[in-house]
Amino acid sequence: MSPLADGLSVNGPRLAHDLETLGRIGRGPGGGINRTSFSPADTEARAWLLARCAEAALSVTVDGIGNLIVSPAYTATVAAHPAVWSGSHIDTVPNGGAFDGALGVLAALECVRRIQEEGPELLRPVRLVVYTDEEGNYAHLFGSSALARGFSRAELEALTGRDGDRFADTFATVGGDITAATTTRLDAGYLHATVELHIEQGPTLEERGHQIGVVTGIVALGGGVVSFLGRADHAGTTPMTRRKNALTAAGALLVALPELAAGVSEHAVVTSGIVAVEPGSANVVPAIARVTVDFRETQADRVTALETAIVDESQAIAARYGLDVEFAFELTIAPTLLDVGIQATIAEAAAARGLSFSSLPSGAGHDSQNMARLAPTGMIFVPSIGGRSHCPEESTDWPDIENGANVLLDTLLRLARAV
Ligand code: HGY
Ligand code: MN
Ligand code: MN
Repeated sequence: MSPLADGLSVNGPRLAHDLETLGRIGRGPGGGINRTSFSPADTEARAWLLARCAEAALSVTVDGIGNLIVSPAYTATVAAHPAVWSGSHIDTVPNGGAFDGALGVLAALECVRRIQEEGPELLRPVRLVVYTDEEGNYAHLFGSSALARGFSRAELEALTGRDGDRFADTFATVGGDITAATTTRLDAGYLHATVELHIEQGPTLEERGHQIGVVTGIVALGGGVVSFLGRADHAGTTPMTRRKNALTAAGALLVALPELAAGVSEHAVVTSGIVAVEPGSANVVPAIARVTVDFRETQADRVTALETAIVDESQAIAARYGLDVEFAFELTIAPTLLDVGIQATIAEAAAARGLSFSSLPSGAGHDSQNMARLAPTGMIFVPSIGGRSHCPEESTDWPDIENGANVLLDTLLRLARAV
């Protein structure tokens, strides 16, 4: 069955070529991709993307926090209407995969290129958005958080990256203006809708044998750093009974985390992905151990309960070892239900292309959960092979990618035409 009256589809080989080319930027010898936001590889990827936009005669604006908004040419009448945005991110986690974020950006790029080439009749513009620092080098869902809630200068100046760099310094080195960053914010109603295509990053679609996922909602997300403060001492001369070893306390917290999650609900997850030790020498008793915690649940009150459980447990551990403990938690990102109308549109688009589909929630965080506070928002998932993601093995079969990109195109066209 023809997907739409005008039968527009993405240019598959061009999308495949783009995915392959972007996937080489920041790729390490083991196959993993290192494109931390504002790193040289991220900057190279942005430059590469801007070159693709220039090649396609798309116009680009950059907002104060570095989000890119890319537009085909529209008549003044169309351009004046609230737009439909589609996009994702091109930054990656350390040693990440080639599809997380990149697929959503390059598929949306392909959609706006096809619109530029074919000039379908639309009521409102469709634009590509590339969000800054989705993976939270400085703040989780950083670019879309700026759009949804804004950041004060004090907040921005307090942010540090995984490497300990200050956001304000790094941002200045790539030409960013922190004053402009504080003014980046969108009002609800500025956009008509947003849609993000993403790999599922879990096993559900593969297990169901379905080609397209219609995302119903996104989990609530909490996170922060627990710092145990002990005392540096000589590793050879300090009796075991006289030590204030911060890393021992951190270890006790790590062991306790699974039980804390289980105490909140069977779906709660808690992860510690970084333990930073100071002074960091094999022959010095660790004085400070900073433990990151990332915790998620579908209900906001359960994320709060997880945060409380982590605080209580950390304080009990610190007391047991005679240490101090400090906490620095990010604001919890609320759970998000995605727009039911857009879910129906995605399902219709999938059905019209004869694809199998089903609904599922997202356990991963996405910029869409911020954008849903600004405009009706939807997400399309495609299967992840083996459910793997945030690792070099992350992959999706090509037909699933092309199908997902076409369902995205159909969804965007339907949203841009709906009266
Ligand atoms: O962490 C997340 O869920 C996402 O990949 N940023
Ligand atoms: Mn990710
Ligand atoms: Mn992502």
